[in-house]
Amino acid sequence: MSVHKSDDMRKVTTHRLSEMKQRGEKISMLTAYDFSMASILDQAGVDVLLVGDSASNVMCGNVTTLPITLDEMIFMAKSVAKAVKRSLVVCDMPFGTYQGNSLEALSSAIRIMKETGADCIKLEGGEEIIDSVKRILSAGIPVMGHLGLMPQSINKYGTYAVRAKEESEAQKLIADAKLLEEAGCFAIVLEKIPAELAQKVAESVHIPIIGIGAGGGVDGQVLVMHDMLGITQGFSPRFLRRYADLFSVITEAVGNYVADVKSGDFPNEKEQY
Ligand code: KIV
Repeated sequence: MSVHKSDDMRKVTTHRLSEMKQRGEKISMLTAYDFSMASILDQAGVDVLLVGDSASNVMCGNVTTLPITLDEMIFMAKSVAKAVKRSLVVCDMPFGTYQGNSLEALSSAIRIMKETGADCIKLEGGEEIIDSVKRILSAGIPVMGHLGLMPQSINKYGTYAVRAKEESEAQKLIADAKLLEEAGCFAIVLEKIPAELAQKVAESVHIPIIGIGAGGGVDGQVLVMHDMLGITQGFSPRFLRRYADLFSVITEAVGNYVADVKSGDFPNEKEQY
């Protein structure tokens, strides 16, 4: 397997992501929710670690991302930030903490920045939440946008199908991306949209576009760590490449432990005092 990670051990900043786009270096991003995994992913060379609200699904067992709270996100982001030396740490703002009004958005973002040690925040939406984006940016907090499939709006759409296949939705997405760039966002995640459209967006803005299910014509890629490591089961969208089968590895290891305990093989003489 080829190892291709940056030799540059300096902390990744929003400015460095912009330089990476300019020189055509692809940006790698994964989700992380706890200290131990964040430490491994950071040392493995991931450029950006996202404390995603996908934690609602993979860490908390909820069906959607909606129930996770600001306190829960802060708990996880704090653990991730403590582990990280190089990666840029982005924390998702959970549903209901920024849509109401821009002052509420600002105070949620300030709590994340003050209490976690994360470097910046991410939120979902374009024109509808632009006042919140601007207010957060005005406090010196870097903002990553998120367009296309926005899981916090699942109840509006009723499906996780590919977004922006219709021309009108595609045009709105392009306009929203430009609006987020003009407002001062440092990057945008595009989730589950046609590859051609995603490439068009990446070519029409100067800020990095990070895709998930958005093809290879963008500036970087993000996956949910539990999915790409094969921990989650029964979730196989076309865009997901599995790099390990940790479900099997862990099941086998734990099964062996249980058998050794039951048989009395563990602990042996060398494993006791
Ligand atoms: O919460 C999350 O994991 C995300 C990624 C899918 C980009 O927003």
